[in-house]
Amino acid sequence: MLYGTTMAATLLTAVVTMNNQVSSADGNSKDTVNDKLNNIMGSLDRIEKSTSSLQKKEKKGNIDVVLGSQWGDEGKGKLVDILSSDYEICARVAGGSNAGHTIVVNNVKYKFHLVPSGILNKNVVCIIGNGVVVHLRGLLEELKSLDAVGVDYKGRLLISDRAHIVFDFHQKIDGLNEKSLGDQKLGTTHKGIGPSYSSKTNRNGIRVGDLLDMKYFESRLRSLIKTLQKNHPDLEVNVEAELDYYKSIREKILPMITDTITYTHSQLNQGKNVLVEGANATMIDLDFGTYPFVTSSNPSVGSVCTGLGVPPQRIDNVTGIVKAYCTRVGEGPFPTELLDDVGVELRAKGREYGTTTGRARRCGWIDIPQLKYSMMVNGFTSINLTKLDVLTGFDKVRIGAKYVRNGVEVQGMPASLSQYSEVNVVYEEMPGWKEDISKVKTFDELPTNCKNYVLRLEELLGMPIRWIGVGAGRLDIIDRK
Ligand code: GDP
Ligand code: IMO
Ligand code: MG
Repeated sequence: MLYGTTMAATLLTAVVTMNNQVSSADGNSKDTVNDKLNNIMGSLDRIEKSTSSLQKKEKKGNIDVVLGSQWGDEGKGKLVDILSSDYEICARVAGGSNAGHTIVVNNVKYKFHLVPSGILNKNVVCIIGNGVVVHLRGLLEELKSLDAVGVDYKGRLLISDRAHIVFDFHQKIDGLNEKSLGDQKLGTTHKGIGPSYSSKTNRNGIRVGDLLDMKYFESRLRSLIKTLQKNHPDLEVNVEAELDYYKSIREKILPMITDTITYTHSQLNQGKNVLVEGANATMIDLDFGTYPFVTSSNPSVGSVCTGLGVPPQRIDNVTGIVKAYCTRVGEGPFPTELLDDVGVELRAKGREYGTTTGRARRCGWIDIPQLKYSMMVNGFTSINLTKLDVLTGFDKVRIGAKYVRNGVEVQGMPASLSQYSEVNVVYEEMPGWKEDISKVKTFDELPTNCKNYVLRLEELLGMPIRWIGVGAGRLDIIDRK
């Protein structure tokens, strides 16, 4: 491993030296050499990957976790895709198709809602764990789009028999609930998440494994619809058509239905490693987020145990994904939100439009109290700062460093929304940077002001930042391990 790192460092020095020499030569030859340099950089990446894979193989039967630390859309999918080649299994454990994870490989964009992002690595088995709520119609559409681009997932996608089904009528109810809330609406994704988790906790939900016994499935479905229609007189459901649909897709779904708890444990016991792909994020966690403006599951670290059926002792690394600024889709408080031109510029540069709903994301400065809270709840062992490139070009960048309420610094995160709305954010302002960082491969190459921004974040968080995202592509990342 040391050998790999030293070789990478030596090659890198050679690359930088070559680059400096070529700068004084003519522009055309510089381009050719730059192409070559990019190829060398690609090789370096692979060397780095193989050394990290060696490191990983020393550890057996562990679970590593990637989680959203803000309000979602931090770039979880990208890191999961990058890391998953070092794991045998990649699993989703919470949420449903409210998640939208975008991955860009060789300029091709993939959007995942239910399928774990590890699916692009052909040696990885993907699990949709028991804690996930699954809209099977949506899942099949997602698989169709994978077929269309030639991603072979056959035999590599397992769905827990205990995962609950999101029915189309759950999605309708989501819409009806939002409508009846009027201007108090939550701004949900309308993906039926709240209503399906409600069915689960009401104990009249229907699980994917129920499809194994159609008689049982039918009686559960009839009774669920009856109950829901009592509560929602406007809810129209064609029960027979619904039943026909599930009969028609059984053939496709049945081979994927698995006792994923036994499967996961058997793999862990054989020394295989699991990567958990968090969905949604801590600040929209049902317990820890800005309730009621939250989702209906626990996207924080606890869901790894409850959503996959594994004990906490198996969990090794927990990586928090932190966007270099902050975004939120839907309603709810956002102390560092920018309602001015800077917010508009952030949205445009960061292409901050929802992967699931296409809605414009609200934008603001990074929020340290929120991140410290997220670190506390989840026990992050490392951080991936994403989208740092989006901050390029601003004269000044700001950090929401602390919350003050009634003249006193707020500790933790207020549970009450009215208290939360009274916090004043104390900002630190730092000079920005203009240099393009999208091709930068090492921390040292970043412009000084950019480095200072990262170093200040580390100081405020009290934790080193391992990965830094400088672009949407799979290779656009600095690994400071
Ligand atoms: P997720 O839900 O946390 O997986 O994040 P999303 O996929 O919803 O949103 C993140 C967006 O930022 C996606 O379009 C990614 O392709 C993109 N992205 C991820 N990392 C970076 C980065 O470092 N820089 C830039 N410019 N884009 C990134
Ligand atoms: P990923 O995994 C951003 C938000 C919705 C809404 C609230 C409740 O892509 O980061 P729901 O449909 O879950 O009942 O909506 O939660 N929300 C997300 N925001 N990213 C997500 O997932 C989200 N999943 C849910 O916008 O405000
Ligand atoms: Mg997303």
